[in-house]
Amino acid sequence: MNRVIAVDGPAASGKSSTAAAVARRLGFLHVDSGALYRGATTVALDLGESASADDIITAAELRGLGFRVVGDAVVLYLDDSPLGERLRDADVTGGVSAVSALPGVRRWVNRSLRALATPDRTLVVDGRDIGTAVFPDAPLKVFLDAAPEVRARRRLIQRDPALEDLGPATVSAEADRLRRRDEADASRTADPLKPAHDAIRIDTANLTFEEQVDMILELIKDAALHLGPSAG
Ligand code: DC
Repeated sequence: MNRVIAVDGPAASGKSSTAAAVARRLGFLHVDSGALYRGATTVALDLGESASADDIITAAELRGLGFRVVGDAVVLYLDDSPLGERLRDADVTGGVSAVSALPGVRRWVNRSLRALATPDRTLVVDGRDIGTAVFPDAPLKVFLDAAPEVRARRRLIQRDPALEDLGPATVSAEADRLRRRDEADASRTADPLKPAHDAIRIDTANLTFEEQVDMILELIKDAALHLGPSAG
């Protein structure tokens, strides 16, 4: 039995910030699996349009794309430097759905993620398929969700806390973008976005950020037996 807490959910469900806060509170390591897909996408963009999964993986390995544990953080490196803000650039965000739909890329990412799960660590891993495909035997699986409009509102405020125009048209345009990404993530053949049959589903629409973090901390307490001595 591994010591992994799987936090899955659609785009802008808050899973990454929630997983990070949970890990911080308990001294566990947070792994953002989407970052590795974004890293593979930056490599694919450097290669150009016709790159295959094999080309991307070969280049990724040559350039040392991968997670490193730095103190209490798990940081994504490429060419010996942390990738940082590059991962959020528009060309990466625009290209990542196509790259993450390549089965060869998914297998490579999944192997990298599993390699992080050594017996001495407890990981909080967020993504789309962590509980279904990457760590199907994780002792705790959470699926965070909320209606697209709720997620759209949160994403807009997160992007620009001073945003004044949160009118229905702005929110519904962002919600449409999220629906399209959900649709792309949920309809791909390789490991689509979906809750694991044994995941605990949390609708975050009426929860504050702290409440959703606390809810997961409670679930971890209940699952502590399976997470090993450092849990709880
Ligand atoms: O969570 P994010 O927005 O950083 O994820 C980027 C993309 O990677 C998103 O389009 C879905 C994909 N992804 C995935 O397919 N499986 C994961 N476990 C994590 C992310």
